[in-house]
Amino acid sequence: MAHPLEHNEQDKNEKLFPEKKIHHQPVLLKEVLEILQPQKNHTYIDGTLGLAGHSKAILNFTPDPIQLIGFDRDFNSLEIASSRLSEFRQSVKTHHARFSEIPNLIDKTKIQFPIGGILLDLGISSFQLDDPEYGLTFNGEGLKKNLDMRLDEWCSTSADKIINEWAEKKLADLFWDYSDYKHSRKLAKLITQNRPVKKMEEFVALCKSVQKSKSRIHPATLPLMALRIIVNDEYKELEKGLRDIVKWMEPASKLLVISFHSGEDRIVKNIFKEHKTQLKFLNMKPITPSQKEIKENPRSRSAKLRAVCKI
Ligand SMILES: C[S@@+](CC[C@H](N)C(=O)[O-])C[C@H]1O[C@@H](n2cnc3c(N)ncnc32)[C@H](O)[C@@H]1O
Repeated sequence: MAHPLEHNEQDKNEKLFPEKKIHHQPVLLKEVLEILQPQKNHTYIDGTLGLAGHSKAILNFTPDPIQLIGFDRDFNSLEIASSRLSEFRQSVKTHHARFSEIPNLIDKTKIQFPIGGILLDLGISSFQLDDPEYGLTFNGEGLKKNLDMRLDEWCSTSADKIINEWAEKKLADLFWDYSDYKHSRKLAKLITQNRPVKKMEEFVALCKSVQKSKSRIHPATLPLMALRIIVNDEYKELEKGLRDIVKWMEPASKLLVISFHSGEDRIVKNIFKEHKTQLKFLNMKPITPSQKEIKENPRSRSAKLRAVCKI
């Protein structure tokens, strides 16, 4: 298969995925650039390239030469990002890989400059959340999809297996531990009583019957988040990835991590603390979006940015 950057057109996303709504607003962009301060003759690594919002801004930050290496576990996102970055073809390399592979793959790649910084913007993009093909949405066409939720082919399980095979207690613990979902026991019981639960709409109906009271968020949001995290092994990946990256980083390299819920942020905070003798903390308290950003992009509301520099 041709390398995604070998395609010529400027921004051919609509040609690649004509029927899809391709959109993602980079979160805390101004704050990321203020901390990162991309400098000439440095390499920057975007471990969660997504639709290249942050990466494009990093490449546009200075007219001087910099190199960018992008990783994403989702091949579709990588293709779209590559096409969005096609004007920087000479300066960009992409890897279809998880960010825990950064030390391994970068050591094998010829990099042009010392590494100035690494960015991890965790979770999924609006594009993945909204596109029914990912099986992550409970809107429209998404309701008709089978429960799956795998972001890449390296996942060892699927939402279907978890929902239909896990014991009631294990399911309840999952919803509680991974999303602080307060109806976890009730939902787990209902799931086991109604097996098989195959389609998103069946799962959403169970969530709705458990949580009848009105709430700011949809009744299926938290249980689905817990499922996505476990299916994609997101916590283990984050723990392993962060530990390996911190160990591997060179002095003066920065590491910025944006998390979106307490489980993720706890892991980031603890791993940074564990390595505090090797790291300088660039912000004592996590940076959160301004009211203006939250108004413009409500999905940014739970974002927290933590940043360190290797000593
Ligand atoms: C929040 S989005 C990033 C958005 C991006 N910063 C932008 O501005 O367009 C997160 C992206 O990270 C990818 N991702 C999630 N976990 C990953 C992992 N462990 N390794 C590599 N990519 C990952 C997802 O597929 C998704 O495309």
